Amino acid sequence: METQAPTAQFTVIPNRRPATDEERWIAMEDPVFGKVFTDHMARATWREEDGWADRRIVPLAPIPMHPGAAVLHYAQQAFEGLKAYRWEDGSIRLFRPEANAARLASSCRRMALPEVSEEDFLAAVEALVEADQNWVAGAEGASLYLRPLVIATEASLLVQPAAEVDFIVTASPVGDYLSNGDVGVSIWVSRGYHRANAGGTGDTKTAGNYAASMLPQKEAKEHGCGQVLFLDAREDTYVEELGGMNLVAVRADGSILTPRLSGTILPGVTRDSILTLLRDEGRTVEERDIALTELVEGIESGDIAELFAVGTAAVVTPIARLVSDDLDVSLPERSEEDGPSVATAMRALLTDIQYGRAEDRHGWTREVVPAPEG
Ligand code: COI
Repeated sequence: METQAPTAQFTVIPNRRPATDEERWIAMEDPVFGKVFTDHMARATWREEDGWADRRIVPLAPIPMHPGAAVLHYAQQAFEGLKAYRWEDGSIRLFRPEANAARLASSCRRMALPEVSEEDFLAAVEALVEADQNWVAGAEGASLYLRPLVIATEASLLVQPAAEVDFIVTASPVGDYLSNGDVGVSIWVSRGYHRANAGGTGDTKTAGNYAASMLPQKEAKEHGCGQVLFLDAREDTYVEELGGMNLVAVRADGSILTPRLSGTILPGVTRDSILTLLRDEGRTVEERDIALTELVEGIESGDIAELFAVGTAAVVTPIARLVSDDLDVSLPERSEEDGPSVATAMRALLTDIQYGRAEDRHGWTREVVPAPEG
């Protein structure tokens, strides 16, 4: 039986064998990030001759693909990450989905893929959240992570933009991405490996950036670190971003320092949200090139009081230590008298907005499922 999704033009074909309540509760209890998926996915297809068509919410299932599909050979793809939250009144809201839609469109342009319009993006994620609303937990820290994906499916080994493309959105109940989030993660500063070059795809959310970060990330793990930090490829001097999140520093005087969006850094939606909230508090926020030496000397002298990572998956995660072959510096430990760190306060403020506990002054939240009546 097919029913038209009330939110938009994505036709819903319900999963006839959804997870039972018990299976869902077990799966949602303490999910490893991105390992649990809901009952449905959104899907649309694009053909050069016809444009986008076949907009559907369908049961989650493997996607049969020709082994010659261009995405498998040349990584012609782009993706996104955003979250839906259940508020105390039972309603479900997305956080800044329009910003993710705009970034996906920009990533698609860079990857020579057809753009997904904001209307289609919002229709897909809203219809999927609505279909899988039982998967949105209300617990603190829990959310439904949505992963929109655009892939080149045409069977072709020619290195040229594909004429057949799929748009897919999956959903995963998630908690924290990084463990040790409360005490702070250790960061491995990668030497010799870089994430992005000028004119490359560093500011694009595309698979290749993440694939290239896996070997340095493995190195990080071997050195007891939870994440890797990349320096710029041109001068091997300036800090850029972590494997999948942006970097923010807090000076002892309370002002903020963060790498500028140089073209080789992903313009994070959480980065933008946190910088906006910091500016709202009246803090000075400097977006500029920051040499690793400046950061290390600042930590050693006490000028830099805090470092933290920001991202949709990571939210706001304090950094405890920077490590490399020739480097090992720790951020100052905090005592109770110090009060909450800027990272802790910003995480609390951001999540309070996301869960509807603080005023949404910037209009960032978007209702998908209303609160039940009565
Ligand atoms: C996100 O935060 O949405 C990402 O895509 C980063 C990845 C490390 C999970």
